Amino acid sequence: MGGNLDYSRAVEIDEGIYWLGWTEENSAFRSNPYLIDDGEDVVLLEPGSVPHFEIFYRKLESVVEPERVNYIFVSHQDPDLCTGIPLLEERLNKTFTILTHTRTTFLLPFYGIKSEYYAVDMHDWKLVLRSGRELKFIFMPYCHFPGMTVMYDTKSRILFSGDLFGGLSYNWSLYADEWYIEAMKAFHEHYMPSREILRHNMAKLEKLDIRMIAPQHGSIIREDVQKYIEALKNLECGEYMLVGD
Ligand SMILES: [Fe+2]
Ligand SMILES: [Fe+2]
Repeated sequence: MGGNLDYSRAVEIDEGIYWLGWTEENSAFRSNPYLIDDGEDVVLLEPGSVPHFEIFYRKLESVVEPERVNYIFVSHQDPDLCTGIPLLEERLNKTFTILTHTRTTFLLPFYGIKSEYYAVDMHDWKLVLRSGRELKFIFMPYCHFPGMTVMYDTKSRILFSGDLFGGLSYNWSLYADEWYIEAMKAFHEHYMPSREILRHNMAKLEKLDIRMIAPQHGSIIREDVQKYIEALKNLECGEYMLVGD
């Protein structure tokens, strides 16, 4: 399943949850924006960058009226996932409530973002939407940003994992295949600071009932989730320490 998907369109990965990403020839580094349509509340996740704004926007408007988006979640402040936010504010002539860690709120205004913030660490690491659906936020410090925070949707049991579980490879499919652990390693070995830090953060995920992992790069993991958590627990990383010695 998943082989015949039309990647030129938004893909519904679960009920009311959409992948709004794109494919790109000759690129190993792709970004995955997502959207949760919860009726009264619509949450956009890691919306993307300036060069991809138009393709992202076309997909967004194919699944919801964009004006309905009221929350934006970002795991950290990297430009590949955040720089599209001021363009969206401008296009829709509105602001949003950005769900993120306090440390990220200090940096996002430098992109010209005008939206307000809901610092998840100041709100017991959760947000309850008007439907009663609870979003939990899990702190993953130093992976790779000090304030890195991922989001777990208790209704779908999907973990939106930011850079964690991301993959780097020229061959790409929306859903992880048998090579995905290698793609994940290629990304984490350099991006994540140390095995101890990664292991410490992975242990937090074992307390959650995760059905699917949707990272900001690479492919969605929807089978054997535990196998991928184990792979990251045992990964040697911080390899840039060895460069230039
Ligand atoms: Fe990043
Ligand atoms: Fe990233």
